[in-house]
Amino acid sequence: ITVYVPRDSTALALGANDVAAAIATEAGKRGVKVKLVRNGSRGMFWLEPLVEVATDAGRVAYGPVDMSDVPGLFDAGFLAGAAHALHQGVTEDIAYLKNQERLTFARVGVTDPLSLDDYLAYEGYVGLKNALAMTPESVVQQVLDSGLRGRGGAAFPTGIKWKTVAGAKASQKYVVCNADEGDSGTFSDRMVMEDDPFMLIEGMTIAAIAVGATEGYIYVRSEYPHAIATLTQAIAIATEKGYLGDNILGSGKSFRLEVRKGAGAYICGEETAMLESIEGKRGVVRAKPPLPALEGLFGKPTVINNLISLASVPIILARGAQFYKDYGVGRSAGTLPFQLAGNIKHGGLVEKAFGLTLRQLLEDFGGGSESGRPIRAVQMGGPLGAYMPQSQFDTPLDYEAFAAIGAMIGHGGLVVFDDTVDMARQARYAMEFCAVESCGKCTPCRIGSTRGVEVIDKIVANQDRPQQIHLLRSLCDTMVNGSLCAMGGMTPFPVLSALNHFPEDFGTPSEKAA
Ligand code: NAI
Ligand code: SF4
Repeated sequence: ITVYVPRDSTALALGANDVAAAIATEAGKRGVKVKLVRNGSRGMFWLEPLVEVATDAGRVAYGPVDMSDVPGLFDAGFLAGAAHALHQGVTEDIAYLKNQERLTFARVGVTDPLSLDDYLAYEGYVGLKNALAMTPESVVQQVLDSGLRGRGGAAFPTGIKWKTVAGAKASQKYVVCNADEGDSGTFSDRMVMEDDPFMLIEGMTIAAIAVGATEGYIYVRSEYPHAIATLTQAIAIATEKGYLGDNILGSGKSFRLEVRKGAGAYICGEETAMLESIEGKRGVVRAKPPLPALEGLFGKPTVINNLISLASVPIILARGAQFYKDYGVGRSAGTLPFQLAGNIKHGGLVEKAFGLTLRQLLEDFGGGSESGRPIRAVQMGGPLGAYMPQSQFDTPLDYEAFAAIGAMIGHGGLVVFDDTVDMARQARYAMEFCAVESCGKCTPCRIGSTRGVEVIDKIVANQDRPQQIHLLRSLCDTMVNGSLCAMGGMTPFPVLSALNHFPEDFGTPSEKAA
């Protein structure tokens, strides 16, 4: 009998290792033969640790399981998929999962992340094999035709970026994966690295073949030790089996891959600061141009993609550009793994085609707030994303629709707040975050953020409020237009959205009480 206990960080943080050990012990005591597989997470975090049992009807889920539940589960006959208080039914039939469109995350939670056999059994490396049979130009064309846009947040067409690098003449080119996932409420990059690492390796290898690169780096934030360990092992396995390194699958093409660990700076998620960091320097933003596509790592043409962009490539090459493009709306083609976090009942990962509304994500999947109180605001797109009020919850999740209301989808993470939130504090936090994380290269960001905190404090304390609000708007205008990168350039979005949509929060405590 096969029993699955996830090895994803979320499950581990909630005691999955203890649960796995308890199942092994209990099975031993009862003389039952159990094969324990440490799979990835299905992304239904409120049910973690989610234990699954393989039955004739499919995999049956139990969760959230505590180690103390294990003897009772055995007594109830969970190895046969029997009823129990924690019984969730056939995993694939759980509405949260069933109503998703999992393309990139199809294998996540299903397979053992470090089993290459599992990966191959579930369509793994079909994309690379197809790519090796094509010209590099046609590989780039497939990615262009799929409509895939950068999943890190900027939504720049991935195919155009690849085309720029492919067209550059150089003795050496690089592929760099940005896995510095620093946005609040985001974890999709981490889940791929921990739960389906070969998919990222395959996507990067396809990118390398398409643009003529032979070396690659995955830049992972230091806060992700499990991701780093899993990726490192997966790279070793792929290299040993001929999917990486020299002469990939006998094609004569080479691609070597290395993991680089960040040092905890948010700004190192900005592509040029990341390049500096990989080169061993302090993470300070470089001015663009030159574009990294032409002069990137060590001054050479470099593809820099967010992890999810690269992880979306294998299925495009396996099933074809049109298959991917058939999902989504308008210029937002394909799917995005949305990440539900903050004050939400059913936090987790929801991969859906673009086009559903924010409200559907919050209510149909999220189940409303965790506290049971009304949701008042949602911040989408990380700490630099706008705060959206109830009146905007019917906006379709589509890059252009969000941009039209001054919001952004970013990396697909959303953080939910109920009606106890103080939006002036959130606005102050945005400025403070910028002050702490600024690389210091340009004045609007370095000094503006510190002044921003002071001005918000004066507004709340009602020290010449109208004048201070005018000053805050003017400061935000300077930051938007004068900052060198998105850090200073986008901090005004959460600040101004809080001020515009929730002006009543910018009063003194006594005013608010009144
Ligand atoms: P950008 O719009 O300047 O560039 C987007 C990408 O396209 C870059 O890689 C750039 O080098 C490339 N590019 C632009 N023109 C090109 C051309 N002609 N040929 C080839 N490549 C070209 O945006 P930027 O500054 O890279 O990113 C800002 C975004 O980052 C924000 O919109 C925000 O959503 C996101 N962000 C994401 C975070 C995360 O943790 N994922 C954290 C903070 C911000
Ligand atoms: Fe550095 Fe901020 Fe300027 Fe970006 S906006 S270059 S983080 S000082």
